[in-house]
Amino acid sequence: MLKLTQALLCAAAVSLSALAQAADPVIIKFAHVVAENTPKGQGAQMFKKLVEADPQLQGKVKVEVYPNSSLFGDGKEMEALLLGDVQMLAPSLAKFEHYNPQVQLFDLPFLFNDLAAVDRFQQGPQGKALLTSMEDKGIRGLAYWHNGLKQLSANKKVILPKDARGMKFRVQASSVLEAQFTEIRANPRKMSFAEVYQGLQAGTVNGTENTWSNYESQKVYEVQKYFTETNHGLIDYMVITNAKFWSGLPEDVRSELQVIIDKVTVEVNRQAEELNLASRQKIIDAKTSEIDPLTPEQRAQWREAMRPVWDKFSGQIGADLIKAADAANTAS
Ligand code: LMR
Repeated sequence: MLKLTQALLCAAAVSLSALAQAADPVIIKFAHVVAENTPKGQGAQMFKKLVEADPQLQGKVKVEVYPNSSLFGDGKEMEALLLGDVQMLAPSLAKFEHYNPQVQLFDLPFLFNDLAAVDRFQQGPQGKALLTSMEDKGIRGLAYWHNGLKQLSANKKVILPKDARGMKFRVQASSVLEAQFTEIRANPRKMSFAEVYQGLQAGTVNGTENTWSNYESQKVYEVQKYFTETNHGLIDYMVITNAKFWSGLPEDVRSELQVIIDKVTVEVNRQAEELNLASRQKIIDAKTSEIDPLTPEQRAQWREAMRPVWDKFSGQIGADLIKAADAANTAS
């Protein structure tokens, strides 16, 4: 009798815990390295809001957003994704070279004329194929999000490539970006995003490259006197998840999450340019630095000086892919 009661109690406990499990929401930890008032920061927040208010998901998914490298920073976040310690990231496209060297394409200097060209390439067949190109490495790409075009910052006025000679520039963990600065005889230093402000302040590096929104939200204008409006390259993101986690989600949840991601993507990409322009204005208003625009002739000198990087990496990236991206500059 005692045994039977025990067995019944045990069975009840098991089915109760199964019930609790069924009711437990899927937790998506979404970590990123930038501030909340940036295109990516806003996108992550919007994703959380839409997921948690979605009538079809009915509380089945909970999203926790960790901005400013507060959960994982550069260097650790990919590993954490593969280990299942975080479920979503949106690293800059400069941070994928160890997973697929073709993604280095996006770092080539002066590749895209504007974000409309970037869009045409990303939404085309070659751009889409890159999203699913790292599944064998455990990474599934869900979308591209824009930040914008990069500008230079420095502790001295830099108008022409020769002005940058010998200067130390912080770069993201990207061989293409290293080569880009070596090409103009400057010294690139790989450094994680969270260390940039201090690195500039302490003089470990004398300059860097980034978008207006990253400069403004990190207060880089407090530690850099000069910005050069070069628009010489791109900072965009691939929103990624752990491939196993993604394929393990119930089909209805997965497809609804993708619908939401697509909605957020449209919004992020629509707002990114505006956000960057607003940040540019805030930097001007802070009056601690100057922004130097370039004449078309000056910009052409940068383009010419950095352009050899294309040939250096065309083997790894693929000449066809570079050609397709370049062709996206012309609207069809
Ligand atoms: C950087 O490291 O400079 C950027 O990739 C940060 C970001 O995610 O925008």
